[in-house]
Amino acid sequence: MDHFPKNQWYVIALTEEIAHRPLARTVCDENIVCYRLPDGTPVALADRCSHRRYPLSLGQLDGATLICGYHGFSYDCTGTCIAVQGQSRIPAQADVPSYQLVEQGMWTWVWIGDEDPAGKKPPLTPWLEGKDGWMAISAMAPIDCRHSLLVDNLLDLSHETFLHGGYIGTPEVSTTPITTTVDRENSIVRVDKHMEAVECPPFYERTTGLTSPIDRWQDIEFFAPGFYLLHVRIAPAGSAPRADGRDDGAFHVKVLYGLTPSTADRTYDFWAVCRDFALDDTEIDTYLDAMQREIVVQDVDALNILEQRIQNDPNPFEVVLGIDRGALTARRVIQALCGGYTDRPLANDEIEEPAMVKK
Ligand code: FES
Ligand SMILES: [Fe+2]
Repeated sequence: MDHFPKNQWYVIALTEEIAHRPLARTVCDENIVCYRLPDGTPVALADRCSHRRYPLSLGQLDGATLICGYHGFSYDCTGTCIAVQGQSRIPAQADVPSYQLVEQGMWTWVWIGDEDPAGKKPPLTPWLEGKDGWMAISAMAPIDCRHSLLVDNLLDLSHETFLHGGYIGTPEVSTTPITTTVDRENSIVRVDKHMEAVECPPFYERTTGLTSPIDRWQDIEFFAPGFYLLHVRIAPAGSAPRADGRDDGAFHVKVLYGLTPSTADRTYDFWAVCRDFALDDTEIDTYLDAMQREIVVQDVDALNILEQRIQNDPNPFEVVLGIDRGALTARRVIQALCGGYTDRPLANDEIEEPAMVKK
């Protein structure tokens, strides 16, 4: 059993964070140092000097060479130790492991696991890669909570009504039923919610110019364990996409999350909001960025508190409802990827027929 799903791609950094200086990240309990070579190539090595384990992220770059800040062991971009102080012979065990990185637009992904990724690639994120007709903003917030709490949060958007009221939360988000499906072979959970003729929340009123009532769709695709894609459709009430897929008159937003487990009680929350309208409107960029940051802080604050409560509460009992179906399905998929391990055992996990459970 693994405490984290291994042999997976996880977002390790915003691409702009990786520069010609060491950046420390911990992914799935593995300490990693990232930096960029003078020619722009991104590099990731184990953040642990082979000499006395000093973090290499506290060292310095000299061209393409990373020099340990304690006694000066020097490493090339493959993790090979190329110089030590005081002797010309370099011990055979002095190299450090390296990691594979893939840059995809605004996000950079790392492969965690001993298997060769071979044909496996990170999830597609064209909206972050300057795809025609899309504009994206992105940032990262660390959360002092276990990975499963962020999964729960994102798979059950009914919390928007209460935690994000006045931003994206309206009454219908918590009262509209969801449709959940799971593709176990590919570890994908889908949760669809279509709200018809409902209130337009301020977040979308201000950015699209639409007023209530609107049709508001929230179609989630969760590619377990680390990538979440929310397809949002905002349109005047009563309009529907045409059979050929054209959807003139509607506004589309893709909300992306990279959910990267750091340690047992710390998770990186990479987020991006991408839109297909008002592409050159920098005022909307500023507004969306400010609003989304506030929304993320609301989630971060709630999850930090939840983690503390869970750590101090020996009673694992949690009531399960129909709206939990997506989150519970996702949790079960992740449990399978960990060979049965879960970071939050449930008193009850009747996912197929979720119902109010009393003990
Ligand atoms: S700990 Fe790095 S050189 Fe000694
Ligand atoms: Fe939220």
